[in-house]
Amino acid sequence: MGTTAGLDGVVGYYDAHPINEDQILRALEGRGLDLDRLTPDDLLQHDQDHYGGLAANDALIARAGLRAEHRVLDVCSGMGGPARYLAHRVGCRVVGLDLTLSRFESAQRLTRRVGLDGLVTFVHGNALEMPFSAGEFDAVIGQEAWCHVPDKPRLIAECARVLKPGGVIAFTDILASEALSAADAARLAAEMQFPVLGTMRGYQDQMQASGFEIVSVDDLGGEWTTILEERLAMYRSLGTETARKFGEGRSKDWDDYYSFFVGLFREGRLSGGRFVGRLRHDR
Ligand SMILES: C[S@@+](CC[C@H](N)C(=O)[O-])C[C@H]1O[C@@H](n2cnc3c(N)ncnc32)[C@H](O)[C@@H]1O
Repeated sequence: MGTTAGLDGVVGYYDAHPINEDQILRALEGRGLDLDRLTPDDLLQHDQDHYGGLAANDALIARAGLRAEHRVLDVCSGMGGPARYLAHRVGCRVVGLDLTLSRFESAQRLTRRVGLDGLVTFVHGNALEMPFSAGEFDAVIGQEAWCHVPDKPRLIAECARVLKPGGVIAFTDILASEALSAADAARLAAEMQFPVLGTMRGYQDQMQASGFEIVSVDDLGGEWTTILEERLAMYRSLGTETARKFGEGRSKDWDDYYSFFVGLFREGRLSGGRFVGRLRHDR
């Protein structure tokens, strides 16, 4: 899988994440569903690990103009919720790439369960060394995950490399504002595994440097602050389950980390953005 030096922290973080396959399956059982007869529609209310749920996927699909004939790469695909939704809703083929083995394996199992494995496949690998040839994809997407990737210029350059000329990049991510202090940034790196956060200007500069023309940019900070307050309440409601699976310490730590994180959004020190670009033919 190439070198993953310095990426162990993020793998450990997702190996012990409160949103996980076991928790999703329990929620489905709780709804009285037979786990051996699940449909994509049953699953898609539970498996999206980004802000804004399915509406956020729809916004990305619309902004990027994704269509059935496209082959799409989801970079940092997690348990595969957005990849499955895209295939189910649009009918396109999707490949999900993720570094964390447990996430990659969960993505494969969940996809087989709902019978989407003909359209959606997963690859275990690093976004900074994508195991794909040049020009394989029509579109590259990402949602609330590139915050974990330490080298943003290289990440965006890798996205450009695997896209066909004229291909689309469309992603949302957590952003640092100028008000974020060095101490806050250090705490986010240690506790949330955000080694360095992108910025509104920085991502646009990096896209242009890799040959993309900017199609649209949206500031999602206000919208995400409301969503994050609700998410904090949801994590608290999962506290007992998180403690049962990973121990009391993890549950309490998670509460501390997440409260701090949501506070930074409330104070405007963190924000969110949606970026769409098209790879120039003449780059
Ligand atoms: C918040 S989850 C996002 C999942 C997905 N986008 C969704 O909306 O459900 C972030 C994912 O990024 C993955 N990740 C972090 N760093 C990575 C890297 N360098 N290469 C590939 N995947 C990475 C993690 O393993 C994790 O599964």
